[in-house]
Amino acid sequence: MLLTLFLVGGAVFPVYSQKIIIPVYSKSNALILQVEDSKDLNMAYFGEKLSDENEYKNISRVYRPAEDYSSMLASAYTASGTRNLAEPAISVTHADGNNGLHLLYESHKQEKIDENVSLTTIVLKDPVYPFWVTLYYKAYVNEDVIEQWSSIRHKEKKSVTLGKFASANLLMRGSAYWLRQYHGDWAREMQPEESRLTHGIKVLDSKLGTRANLFQPPLFMVSLDKPATEDEGKVLFASLSWTGNFRVDLEVDHQDNLRIIAGVSNFASAYSLKPGEEFSTPAFLYTLSNSGKGLASRNLHDWARNYKLVDGKGTRLTLLNNWEATYFDFNESKLSALLKDTKKLGVDLFLLDDGWFANKYPRNDDHAGLGDWQENKQKLPNGISYLVKEADANGVKFGIWIEPEMVNPKSELYEKHPDWVIRQPGRDEHYFRNQLVLDLSNPKVQDFVFGIVDGLLSKNPELAYIKWDCNAVIYNAHSSYLQNQSHLYIEYVRGLYKVLQRIRAKYASIPMMLCSGGGGRVDYGALQYFTEYWPSDNTDPLERIFMQWEYSYFFPAIASANHVTDWGKQPVKFRTDVAMMGKLGFDIVISKLDPKDLTFCQQAVKTYDSVKDIIWQGDQYRLTNPLTDDVASVFYLDKAKSAGVIFNYLVNNRYGAGSAVPIRLKGLDPSKKYRLEEINLYPGTRSALNPGTIYTSDFLMKIGFNPAVKSGRNSVVVKITEVR
Ligand code: DGJ
Repeated sequence: MLLTLFLVGGAVFPVYSQKIIIPVYSKSNALILQVEDSKDLNMAYFGEKLSDENEYKNISRVYRPAEDYSSMLASAYTASGTRNLAEPAISVTHADGNNGLHLLYESHKQEKIDENVSLTTIVLKDPVYPFWVTLYYKAYVNEDVIEQWSSIRHKEKKSVTLGKFASANLLMRGSAYWLRQYHGDWAREMQPEESRLTHGIKVLDSKLGTRANLFQPPLFMVSLDKPATEDEGKVLFASLSWTGNFRVDLEVDHQDNLRIIAGVSNFASAYSLKPGEEFSTPAFLYTLSNSGKGLASRNLHDWARNYKLVDGKGTRLTLLNNWEATYFDFNESKLSALLKDTKKLGVDLFLLDDGWFANKYPRNDDHAGLGDWQENKQKLPNGISYLVKEADANGVKFGIWIEPEMVNPKSELYEKHPDWVIRQPGRDEHYFRNQLVLDLSNPKVQDFVFGIVDGLLSKNPELAYIKWDCNAVIYNAHSSYLQNQSHLYIEYVRGLYKVLQRIRAKYASIPMMLCSGGGGRVDYGALQYFTEYWPSDNTDPLERIFMQWEYSYFFPAIASANHVTDWGKQPVKFRTDVAMMGKLGFDIVISKLDPKDLTFCQQAVKTYDSVKDIIWQGDQYRLTNPLTDDVASVFYLDKAKSAGVIFNYLVNNRYGAGSAVPIRLKGLDPSKKYRLEEINLYPGTRSALNPGTIYTSDFLMKIGFNPAVKSGRNSVVVKITEVR
């Protein structure tokens, strides 16, 4: 029953039985926050929208769980040290040493940022201490995505110490919860594991500092009631936008709720907050799909392209990289030849990798030179500028590799500025790939790192691409700059963001690849400054089918930098087809290619150019799954549903496996007819498909098509085009 109207921040809100309902809506879902009579703020519901919004007030009444005892299990941001019995979102030691915190609703406002985006802000306050937490819910309506974060401030007499500081605290209700999480290591990133959550807390986290996602990315999904499939089931996709230590607690409590508490990790990071200072957390982003994983991923792709990635709606440069072609062994004349090869191959850009710098300790392997960003005079007597001009003369663009956050102990930088390095005084150094991490909490180091990029770009305005690598984790975490050592992990990432913001303020559109040794950094906190990421150094195409499949749940194809290399046993066509499911690049020795392979690659670049917009900007449908089927099939369909590309691969070689049954398409326009044609054929081979047949979408979605995948035809790319 509507009792009265309540005025908050100039807006009028309905009040039901004294409870203020704060709804956060997106296209399909409602996240309902409810202010209880006690002024506690609870999360009453997160799920499909109801047709009558007046019924949200009834939701909490129809749940009759076991006794809560604390009356806090549904808290929208669980404070600790007072009544709570479950995992908190925040813990604090007040200025007077007291550990108790309770947070009550103070006010809220809801504003429309634009036609598609709304921001809900809720202020909570401790009734005893001048201590506030503000919760932010930013809803991207059409994409069904919410970004949630919090900010913490106080007016106590002295600093307080934050022991935990989550971005978000969600309450999900289901009869069971299935977590899909990822683990990995170098060259074996994104290994999925799916399991039912049992009572207690499952923690996903990283303590690596930099390269934080080497063993675990902050990406996960939770199915409610039963494991979601591609097209069925309720499933939450989530990630923390933070390029450092993170922590996600997934707690199935004694009432069988799933409480998800996500934020920056508090590992070795007790944070001392001064009176009046604000501690803002990064965003926890999530999307809830009521129709399976496919929809959740398409929503995230749209969101990433529309709002996060640099130039997400734009274009990308195809390239030839020299890392695996030369490693550190190159000079000006070798590179001049590679520039010609770049043109010959037909890609847009040549990317010069590691090994071009340092003189006192030349960068001839990975033991020396990192940090000394002057061109190596022996290898490049005429410098980068000469190569940039050479590239231009050959009609291609030029890009360059850097790893600006790191230093080899064998370098002039280390000799000059040992205080810029993260290391423990008096202890032996411990290296990851023979290097150490620079202390980005120090503004002088930030200037230095910014200066590397700024120097390269101001000297060479035509430089068209940067690959930003980050190969080491943080050992011996200690800063000779910071007063408070437990701030280091957090201030490092803030320092990194300051540098990236400066770069983007001056060079808004230069394409940059987030590399991190492959897969070591895959978070939207960093990706908002980059155009693409490097999924893994493992470019064996068979492995990549699996890895790209998993990454593709969270990132759109336009962001996935995929290179054709010599990894794996598959022929060049298979390798190229797999790399085309993203942003295509090559890292092979063009001059040593068999002439037929070269012709294929040249033709493939042209074919890719003709379909890349569909792959980059279209909707992705996963048709058959490499983990469960003999054939993996991935479909990209343009938004107009008039053209698409289907990639099909044999992923099992036992018992004459192949595409025994047709593969059903998804997402087609029910009123349209289509023609299928095999593309990207290897020279001299003929398609097994009949391009003359015209199919209704009804047929293709109910019966399907058969790419005729089998041994000897283990990679088949099919273009589908509307017939008018
Ligand atoms: C790791 C990257 O993942 C590789 O692609 C390459 O750039 C090397 N670093 C260079 O050291």
